Amino acid sequence: MQDYILITGGAGYVGSHTAWLLAQKGYRVVVLDTLAQSPHFPHRWAEFVCGDYGDRHLLEQLFTNYTFTAVIHFGAYTVVSESVQHPLNYYDNNVSKTITLLDVMVKHNILSFIFSSSCAVYGLPHYTPLTEEHPCNPISPYGTTKYMIEQVLKDCANAYGLKYVALRYFNAAGAQAREGLGERHIPETHSIPLLLQAAQTGKPFYIFGTDYPTKDGTCVRDYIHVQDLATAHYKALLHLVLYKNPSDIFNLGTGSGLSVKELINAVQQITRKELTIIPASRRIGDPALLVADPVKAMIILQWKPMYSDITTIVTSTWVFEQSQGLIKKESISQEQE
Ligand code: UFG
Repeated sequence: MQDYILITGGAGYVGSHTAWLLAQKGYRVVVLDTLAQSPHFPHRWAEFVCGDYGDRHLLEQLFTNYTFTAVIHFGAYTVVSESVQHPLNYYDNNVSKTITLLDVMVKHNILSFIFSSSCAVYGLPHYTPLTEEHPCNPISPYGTTKYMIEQVLKDCANAYGLKYVALRYFNAAGAQAREGLGERHIPETHSIPLLLQAAQTGKPFYIFGTDYPTKDGTCVRDYIHVQDLATAHYKALLHLVLYKNPSDIFNLGTGSGLSVKELINAVQQITRKELTIIPASRRIGDPALLVADPVKAMIILQWKPMYSDITTIVTSTWVFEQSQGLIKKESISQEQE
């Protein structure tokens, strides 16, 4: 019988898309999630365990009850500005608890690990597009936590024979509304859901910084569709477990950048709504320009973004946002009945 894959944070944004894809590919998936950041996990295609990936006792139980081929670790706090305000929460959740997870894994001889890293490990780019060799000087505690775990993984590989792939995501975006999967952060801080919520509610959207040294003064980002990210995790799993390739680190982006103003134009065109846009001051921890060089993942993982044009990204998120609006309306009318 096929072994299981453990997905921590599998009820979250990228985690749930990856869990879904692996289930479609025939893997048996166990999702471990506290549901603190995602309110529910109503899907049948994975077994669900409510709990914390830093809970040693729970992990011991899980690793005794199931045989896991690999662990894919999405669980983390992810808001850059919050990490600046509450660094200890981030070091505890993203670093200490991940070390507990790795420790219990190694004790149970589970030695394949796929890690959600981030372009935030690079800090301020010296050149773009960013290759994996670019120096890592994170400028936020969030980025530091991701870089620290990459270092821990390197040492665990040397000491215990752990094999890992660290995937440095650029800007995860898009949704798979048909499966009820999409981006839901509480509170929401990401530009595309905020723009689409602005399109639905008429509330203003604030541009954080219009004086950056970029083509139009606003920050440039490399938006990568969450389904493409999910595919990269599947490919990373094949890389480690099936082909038994060495540990490695890969950028996941498209190689082209979009400014905040260009994003606003795309949202206005797709939603056919005129947004109220307010220029505001820069947000702390935002580099001017983050664009990936994804060639390494394309060559070694044989991965290619398929859904990451901005029209597909915004349209899929728009469909998801509207479906969430309908769900909210339905639950309010049910409560009233
Ligand atoms: N932005 C606005 N107004 C908003 C929200 C965002 O102008 O209300 C701008 C931001 O300043 C940024 C761009 O839109 O220039 C994208 O912002 P997001 O919050 O959507 O995404 P980030 O670029 O901040 O975050 C991404 C990843 C993080 C990663 C970070 C590294 O989501 O995981 O890049 O800087 F850590």
